[in-house]
Amino acid sequence: MPFTIESIREHFPVLHQEVHGKPLIYLDNAATTQKPKQVLEALNSYYANDNANIHRGAHALADRATRKYENTRTMVGDFINAKEEAEIIFTKGTTESINLVASTFGRKFIQKGDEVIISTMEHHSNIVPWQMLCEANGAVLRVIPISESGEIIFDEFEKLLSPRTKLVSIVHASNSLGTINPVKAIINRAHAVGAKVLLDGAQSTSHLEIDVQDLDCDFLAFSAHKLYGPTGLGVLYGKREILEQMPPYQGGGEMIKEVTFAKTTYNEIPFKFEAGTPNIADVIAFGEALNFISGLTKPLIKAHEDSLLAYAVELTSKIKGFIPIGTAKEKVSVLSFNINGMHPFDVGVMLDAKGIAVRTGHHCTQPLMQRFGIEGTVRASFAVYNTKSEVEKFAESVERIAKIKNK
Ligand code: ALA
Repeated sequence: MPFTIESIREHFPVLHQEVHGKPLIYLDNAATTQKPKQVLEALNSYYANDNANIHRGAHALADRATRKYENTRTMVGDFINAKEEAEIIFTKGTTESINLVASTFGRKFIQKGDEVIISTMEHHSNIVPWQMLCEANGAVLRVIPISESGEIIFDEFEKLLSPRTKLVSIVHASNSLGTINPVKAIINRAHAVGAKVLLDGAQSTSHLEIDVQDLDCDFLAFSAHKLYGPTGLGVLYGKREILEQMPPYQGGGEMIKEVTFAKTTYNEIPFKFEAGTPNIADVIAFGEALNFISGLTKPLIKAHEDSLLAYAVELTSKIKGFIPIGTAKEKVSVLSFNINGMHPFDVGVMLDAKGIAVRTGHHCTQPLMQRFGIEGTVRASFAVYNTKSEVEKFAESVERIAKIKNK
């Protein structure tokens, strides 16, 4: 490995602290990743040196801020191999990106009797916007079932496809199970019936190499904060020809070409979808997060995380009462589980007492929990700065907790 974990951890001030008298072991990376120093410094430096509104000032600071903001747009385009940077729209997060598509593409192209396909393992942010759309316009929501291991049943997906399908909106990697979906095959099949495809990349973009041209997805939504960047910032990628046909999302400054009381004309993409002063500081800092990732390279990040997941699976599989939830063949570094006889929240609190941060509950995927007949899970999720020794401490703690009810 051309990097050492110690040198990576040096970049993350937050990791070097004690929680309840124990060294912090942060295993809640699917909820949000920690931020490297260069991201924190970029935020500070922007406000200390460059703070100005962008695209409209005639002064040096505005020019500097605009160049830095637009530079991140170019970097994001490169990060996912978009054809051009105009296809990159900055939003508040994955949720807003999906809502943008539902409110604009959905409003224009999905009518009464048309169908939208999602899967059982969607996050609420990829369920509720489509329910709201279907309620408003009489379209129908179809749901791909999943297997016991947490994989979509491809035959069932194919059966749902028809000329009525206008959109397939599917998660690339499940936040609750870690399952990586066969999105390329899904996109192929959806396109064959004339449907467009939106990928929820919130959990995949930090682990997997993403090439939107190779995937041929029509939209990709993701969040900066799961990519070692700031919160409150997301991305919507869309193909130019589709974005150009979509009506604007919010009205206001920046998204217009000309306003009169009689008529308003709209700006070019991406500005048509970025009304108001955007999240300038966080966009600029996000550029540093992307530099951090590309410095390490995705394949190396993934290899490290995969080895941590495999080790965690190996150690925990020996624990009496340990019930893994989501055992797909292809996974990102998410280990969801329950302990026989114990509530996930109680397990989470006991792990916290050992300094180990995990997430518990339904993870904003209630229908998925209903599919497994459970209330929730405990979820450990690994990032590039986690270590083998942290995995060992986690497994030891889980074993001790499991013993309370599983002698
Ligand atoms: N969607 C994020 C998670 O899975 C918040 O934790």
